[in-house]
Amino acid sequence: MRHLLSIDDLGRDDIELVCDRARSFAEVGRRDIKKVPTLRGRTIVSLFYESSTRTSSSFELAAKRLSADVVSVKAAGSSVDKGESLRDTVATLSAYEPEAMVIRSPEAGAAALVAGWTEAAVINAGDGKHEHPSQALLDVYTLIDNVGTLDGKRIWIVGDVAHSRVARSCIRAFVTMGAEVTVAGPPTLIPRGIDELGSSVSYDFGDLGGADVIYALRMQKERMKEAFVPSLREYAINYQINGRRLGPRQLVMHPGPVNRGVELSPDVIDGPASLITAQVASGLLVRMAILYEILAGSERPRPLTRVGGEGGSSEGAQIGEPA
Ligand code: CP
Repeated sequence: MRHLLSIDDLGRDDIELVCDRARSFAEVGRRDIKKVPTLRGRTIVSLFYESSTRTSSSFELAAKRLSADVVSVKAAGSSVDKGESLRDTVATLSAYEPEAMVIRSPEAGAAALVAGWTEAAVINAGDGKHEHPSQALLDVYTLIDNVGTLDGKRIWIVGDVAHSRVARSCIRAFVTMGAEVTVAGPPTLIPRGIDELGSSVSYDFGDLGGADVIYALRMQKERMKEAFVPSLREYAINYQINGRRLGPRQLVMHPGPVNRGVELSPDVIDGPASLITAQVASGLLVRMAILYEILAGSERPRPLTRVGGEGGSSEGAQIGEPA
């Protein structure tokens, strides 16, 4: 991988490679010193023009666990406040000769533009309503961890599909991995043509009971310039995933942050069917894997072998050695 701009750039083999690599990093998190020297001496710039908790913190921690030097810039409080353009900001930060730049922007296509302005590898950490490829990868990883293969699994993505970059990346990733994907919600929140990404469309929850996994989306009030639903209360009455709508063997996912009591009820968020915390934990491993694959990797990972353990030294042992 040169950049990670769109999930479209990845085939099933690529997604499996990232997941295998992420799995090989899980062991690092169980060590006393949770660090490997793989990216020592490399510089990674994290540039966020939109708020973020999960994506920004996990990319930063992932880079640090791989021993990279990290420069984190948030638009608020930076010279962007003084009117500096994205292009000039990228040129400024490129003067440090970073190997990778992680960018989140409210504008669709921003990451692809940045890739044309810098020598660094560019990772799209969310660009407007367009794509959020690292979220889709961590969701595939979380699902494989919890249900095994995605082949034939029925995944319903429900809620505010219209404003969701997560939906666009996840539909493609889940379909590529063999799942049957349905998007569902009120007609005002289901964009025309979304089925062209490979999903079915439903405007009600009549067949929701057939889903193995329900992936709820946040109502993105900040991106709504008009009223898409009469009120959040009415939306919750008709479309909230709660104990009444959730079947006994169904799993629930959400990219976060959640509007508690709107798209998900608190008992479902905190209940046994919820994979939300697992998604956050996967985010760290998968973002380590993305950085590794872009900056250091190319071959399928072998299981980590402890130094001095059976099998002696291996590529896995090499990447797993303490920093
Ligand atoms: N899922 C996600 O992108 O969360 P953040 O906005 O907190 O990064």
